[in-house]
Amino acid sequence: MELRTTERGRMDSERWTAVDDYVADLFVGDDRALSAALARSAESGLPSIQVSAPQGKLLHLLARAQGARNILEIGTLGGYSAIWLARALPPGGRLITLEAVPLHADVAQANVATAGLADRVDILVGKALETLPRLAAEGRSFDLIFIDADKTGYPDYLAWSLKLSHPGTLIVADNVVRDGEVVDRASQDANVQAVRRFNELLAAEPRVSGTVLQTVGVKGYDGFALALVTS
Ligand code: SAH
Ligand code: DHB
Ligand code: MG
Repeated sequence: MELRTTERGRMDSERWTAVDDYVADLFVGDDRALSAALARSAESGLPSIQVSAPQGKLLHLLARAQGARNILEIGTLGGYSAIWLARALPPGGRLITLEAVPLHADVAQANVATAGLADRVDILVGKALETLPRLAAEGRSFDLIFIDADKTGYPDYLAWSLKLSHPGTLIVADNVVRDGEVVDRASQDANVQAVRRFNELLAAEPRVSGTVLQTVGVKGYDGFALALVTS
């Protein structure tokens, strides 16, 4: 956060936000369901930490490029990214999204219904580490997995994602750069340490080929990890 408290950092972040607005105007435009989702989430007191509009569009395009029929999301919040992902599904496709906080799940359910997507989205309430083993026991497999819940869980979420994958699955994870703090091996921040561990595990994992892409925008400076399951 230090970066954005300086004058230079404040100006950079204003510009990043202006460019996100510019991109969203061009490539997203007015979208009633997404606007309604953000409004209901704010009214319900949810934190405004959903992916940005350009990032949501990216998730949507990745799901379509994958031809994803089964999508898993870890961390629902108010369902903003879930709407983007569910809109990419072909007829008969499904999104399962995991959320620990019942209020978040309720708001997301309402937002998904308003978006006309309730028939293809299952919001499973509970800690992801309790739900993921159940999904694995049911023999489920997903074509795209989006990891975006508590950062300390990321190393475990990667392990479960691999169990829930097949060759060709795309694994995407948000918030893996964290204002650049991810390069600080001595960081005392548990979230930074967990994300560093996640990136190291992903890089060393022989069953995937991955990378990390830095991002700036309305959410500041962060990044996405992307990994294709190859075997
Ligand atoms: N993907 C959402 C944002 C998710 S924010 C979007 O872009 O629209 C992270 C969410 O993960 C929060 O709603 C939080 O309650 C949830 N969460 C935190 N810890 C969790 C856990 N252990 N299991 C499941 N969800 C969790
Ligand atoms: C937080 C969580 C996120 O997933 C995110 O994209 C931004 C912030 C948070 O917990 O503060
Ligand atoms: Mg996030």
